[in-house]
Amino acid sequence: MNEKNIVLIGFMGTGKTTTGRALAQRLNRKFLDSDYCIEERYKMSISDIFALYGEEKFRQWEQDTINDLSKEKHAVISTGGGIVLKEENIIKLKENGKLYLLSGSLETIISNLKVSTDDRPLLKGKDWIAAVEKLLNCRLQLYNNAADYIIDINKKSTLSILDEILKIHCNIKPYKMI
Ligand code: S3P
Repeated sequence: MNEKNIVLIGFMGTGKTTTGRALAQRLNRKFLDSDYCIEERYKMSISDIFALYGEEKFRQWEQDTINDLSKEKHAVISTGGGIVLKEENIIKLKENGKLYLLSGSLETIISNLKVSTDDRPLLKGKDWIAAVEKLLNCRLQLYNNAADYIIDINKKSTLSILDEILKIHCNIKPYKMI
């Protein structure tokens, strides 16, 4: 059994939280979501942190939270889309974990984000599609460099994404349909 943490990284709208929760349930492991942990720790929503303190402060709090989460063992951890901006986050997460990049095309990401731009401060109140394109281009290399494994999520169900990660991490074969 692979005891390492399963760490999900990737752009906003790639399903890190949904996939992470399902993986944890399937493997009976603890599930931790970095954004949720930040909100709990600082008793404030991500949107409020950005609005009141700005992105730089958020990144610092995010780093402190990632530092703590990195000490976990045998957990499933989903991370905010911007954790790759600080190399220290990646170094820490790799100490006890394998990093799985959920990689989606611009089209997939835009389609997934359509219903949820309001609670994402970096996309709020502007031409969010242009913002997604710009951010994604800036970060693509960082995601690819950080990843131990790259999982293509385009046109795939959560279940098949789950099966791919389970096969790599735990050598668990997918359920067979008879
Ligand atoms: C961010 C992604 C968000 C959240 C914050 C910043 C980013 O998390 O951490 O709004 O910089 O990409 P999700 O990737 O879970 O949306």
